[in-house]
Formats: sequence, C-alpha cells, structure tokens
Amino acid sequence: MKILVTGGLGFIGSHTALLLLEEGHDVVILDNLSNSRISTLEKINSLGDNKAAFIRGDILDEKIVDKVFSIGDFHGVIHFAALKSAEESKNNPMKYYFNNVAGTLTLLKKCQKYGVRNFVFSSSASVYGDAESPVSEDTIPGKRSNPYAESKAMCEIILNDIATSDNSLRLTILRYFNVIGAHRSGSLGEEASKEFGNIMPYIVKVASGKMDKILVYGNDYNTPDGTGIRDYIHVMDVAKAHIRALEKQREGCQVYNLGTGKGTSVLELIQAFEEVSELKIPYEIVQRRYGDIEVSFSNPYKAMHELGWKAEFDITDMAKDTWNYENTKFKY
Ligand SMILES: NC(=O)c1ccc[n+]([C@@H]2O[C@H](COP(=O)([O-])OP(=O)(O)OC[C@H]3O[C@@H](n4cnc5c(N)ncnc54)[C@H](O)[C@@H]3O)[C@@H](O)[C@H]2O)c1
Repeated sequence: MKILVTGGLGFIGSHTALLLLEEGHDVVILDNLSNSRISTLEKINSLGDNKAAFIRGDILDEKIVDKVFSIGDFHGVIHFAALKSAEESKNNPMKYYFNNVAGTLTLLKKCQKYGVRNFVFSSSASVYGDAESPVSEDTIPGKRSNPYAESKAMCEIILNDIATSDNSLRLTILRYFNVIGAHRSGSLGEEASKEFGNIMPYIVKVASGKMDKILVYGNDYNTPDGTGIRDYIHVMDVAKAHIRALEKQREGCQVYNLGTGKGTSVLELIQAFEEVSELKIPYEIVQRRYGDIEVSFSNPYKAMHELGWKAEFDITDMAKDTWNYENTKFKY
C-alpha cells in the first residue's frame, strides 16, 4: 500500500511510518515540523532498506497538499498532524480549531478530489470527557474541558457526516489513550520540540537529572493511592493498530478505542520507571489541575474483535523502552 502519513515525523507518526516501511509499504510523510525534527526522518530511513519520502509542508496549505496528492496515487491517508496540548488549547482555541479541524477538512477535500477513499484519523480518549470508565466506543461522552478535545470531537462529527453522504468512503477513527514508550532499538522515541504537560517526558527529565522532581497533581482522588488513573499504551502497539485498521477498512465510518483496558496510577507509573531505571524519582504532591479527570481507561474489546489487534506491551515494557531511548538517543 502507498500511504500518505501526515504528521509522520511526530511521536506516533514516526513509529507508524517505520512499521509501515518494515511491513513493505510505501510511505510519504507530510509534516510542517512545528513539533518535530528533520533528524527523525534520517532515523526512520536508517533503520531498514525501505525509505520514506518527505515533504515539508502544512496540511492547511492547499497548494502543497494538491501537489502531494497529484503525484501520490495513494491507497490511503493516516492523519496524525495536529496540535495536541490541552493546556495550550485553552489559551489559544482558534489556533487549535484552525490547525486540527480546518486541517482535517483540507485533507478530506483533497481525498475527495483525488479519489483517495481510505482515511485513518487520530482521535483521542479526551473526546469522552469525564464519562465514567471503562469507556466504550458507544459511551455517551461526558463534559470535555478543553478546545483540543473539542477539536477532535468536531473532526469525528465531520468524518461521520461525510461517510453518511458518500458510502464509498472507508473512514476509521482511532481514539488513543495515553501513548508512551519508544521503539525497542532506542533509535526512535518521543522527540517533541515543545512541552505538553504529559507526565512521561517529565519522569525522564527527573531520571536524567534535568529536573529535581515531578509534580503530581492531586492525591485526593477516589482511587487506591489517591492519584489519577490513566490507560497507558505503548507507541508500537498504537503503530501496529494503524496498519491493522488500514487492512480491515470497510465502507462507512468505524471507531475504535486504542488502549490496554488497564488503568495505572501516577504513582504506579513512577514506580515502574524507578524499577527499570534503578533510580529514585522524587515527586511532590500539589493541587489538582482544573479539568483533569480522576480515572480514564478503555474498553478495548471492539478493536480486538474487529481489527484482530490488542495491546501486547505492559507498563514495564513502556518504562523500559522509554528509558532505553533516553540512554541511546545521543548515539544516533
Ligand atoms: N500522544 C498521545 O498520547 C496522543 C493521545 C491521543 C491522541 N493523539 C493524537 O495523535 C496524533 C499524533 O500525536 P503525537 O503524540 O505523535 O503528536 P506530535 O506533536 O509528536 O506529532 C504531530 C506531528 O504533526 C505535525 N503537524 C502539526 N500540525 C501540522 C500541520 N498543520 N501541517 C503539517 N504537520 C503538522 C507536527 O510537526 C508533528 O510532527 C495527534 O493528532 C494527537 O492529537 C496523541
């Protein structure tokens, strides 16, 4: 399959691009490098015989997107390119709605123009808002607390409406939970050029001596150790799910959770990291953050039944591969 991967130099996109290449597919990456580095392309292309093509450009730039599609002859598009900071989106909602919603619309318009019928969209567990976990694909969403989550929910509505109006389209929405980990080789990992308030990059910074301690937001939640619970999933499991989703695409708009189905608290995640790194990770408990959800984990069974996919890696693997990346990355 020849696949256009938007945002393919980002964290999840780069791991997916690498796996697509490893499985013998052709990959064209479109990325504006707003949250990634060009060196990631060299890493992807140094790991195997198959190489990805790269175009630096913005999904909002119709001229560039036209050019990419006109030379592409793509089987499908995996659309990762988006801004992803919940916090930043509260201060700058317009930027998020433009990039994430208008960007998705631009791509869908070009898919229609060039007859590309297969589309996989990166959505997020944040569309469920504060609905009670485990959340299934048909769970009625709760209150969403930021424009980032709203932008993903809006894209989902657009995809559903487009699929209803044109039954030859094959659209897949993947709702990821909390993606962490790195490629086992240590050559690829989370390499964002901005910081987003996700916990794992902070744990790594403390472990490698770049920060003194982690701030843990709240220990008075109704959970066994009082800290928030999330469904962490390994980036390579997420990458694999995209390829299974492309292989199993069918007419209409399908939606799947990508999670392990298991919740891990903040303190359990810190402990897992301490065990694999054999380091002490100091932390300080501070006030809850507005909008943070107490517990969020998936019901992962629909993807198991329909895509034949299930998460293989556990929290220890995720911590181990993250730490391995941190210790290996300067060699690349
Ligand atoms: N990381 C997670 O835990 C998580 C969870 C749920 C959903 N998601 C979604 O998955 C997708 C990928 O996330 P990620 O963690 O890899 O993020 P990332 O920021 O590492 O990657 C996104 C990539 O898209 C590029 N990009 C952004 N806007 C663009 C534009 N207008 N034109 C071209 N390129 C653009 C960035 O430069 C970056 O390389 C995003 O849509 C995100 O919302 C991520």
